[in-house]
Amino acid sequence: MARSGAHVIVVGNEKGGSGKSTTAFHLAIYLLHAGYRVASVDVDSRQQTLTHYLRNRRAYAQERGLTLPNPQHFHLPSAWGDSVRENDRAEFDVFRRAIGEVENRADFVIIDTPGFDTNLTRLAHSLADTLVTPVNDSLIDLNVLARVDAQSGQPIETSHYAKLVQRARSERLSVTGESVDWVLVRNRISMLGSRNARQVQVTLDAIATRFGCRVADGIAERVIFRSLFASGLTVFDPLDGDMGAEGSSVSHLAARQEYRNLVAALNLPITQTSGQAAAEALRLSA
Ligand SMILES: Nc1ncnc2c1ncn2[C@@H]1O[C@H](COP(=O)(O)OP(=O)(O)O)[C@@H](O)[C@H]1O
Ligand SMILES: [Mg+2]
Repeated sequence: MARSGAHVIVVGNEKGGSGKSTTAFHLAIYLLHAGYRVASVDVDSRQQTLTHYLRNRRAYAQERGLTLPNPQHFHLPSAWGDSVRENDRAEFDVFRRAIGEVENRADFVIIDTPGFDTNLTRLAHSLADTLVTPVNDSLIDLNVLARVDAQSGQPIETSHYAKLVQRARSERLSVTGESVDWVLVRNRISMLGSRNARQVQVTLDAIATRFGCRVADGIAERVIFRSLFASGLTVFDPLDGDMGAEGSSVSHLAARQEYRNLVAALNLPITQTSGQAAAEALRLSA
């Protein structure tokens, strides 16, 4: 498949509930606020969380007469016919059309992937300029990357998902000569700071060294993410009186800072001027 002129960010992890869709949505809205043209592709045809997120956003804005920026969004067909082959082909066609349509029109394409391995998951990974892998903050969740020695905390065996990424990376390197910047992000970090959490960080660092990827500062566990999904808002959108219990605005601002730090850590091709515009936009909505 032809490579897009846009910068492609894939959010992937072969595990449900690690925060992929939440992260994909936040990255898309951040870049829109920063003035970029953003397209989003939901490859998760079963759950379609990103698609639902954007639907909630439109409904929320419409009910309140608000103007909120939205990416140009594509989702794969949700209808599941009897023939797996035909379903696969239909999905592949939509995906190819989406990429073809935005390759020279969007600055960024954000692809949200499902928590399981399909041809399309692999294809999406081979298109990534930047691959973001959110991992839940527990040792068990690191299994998706590597089997870890219980005594030493060192990775001893590459897991299925990490192999998928390695294949996608070497494929891309041989086809385009470009590498994939793979960034691991801890998500839903417990505020309590346990011994277990420190162990996760140490093990994640060891895994990153082994696989030649990076670890970005993570995102804490916060209840506001529930209401954000329901309203289709991100921490980058203006605060709203409806946000709920007292103290949620503090939580909102803290989460915004964490997501900002994450975007900064991704080293995306964001120009100085647009970066300033982004900072301005975020100040205005703070
Ligand atoms: N930092 C966080 N704090 C609290 N809940 C979170 C956080 N990140 C994600 N969630 C919640 O976890 C659930 C799974 O997140 P989601 O982004 O859908 O994961 P995935 O796409 O990997 O399956 C959602 O209910 C989401 O609201
Ligand atoms: Mg998801």
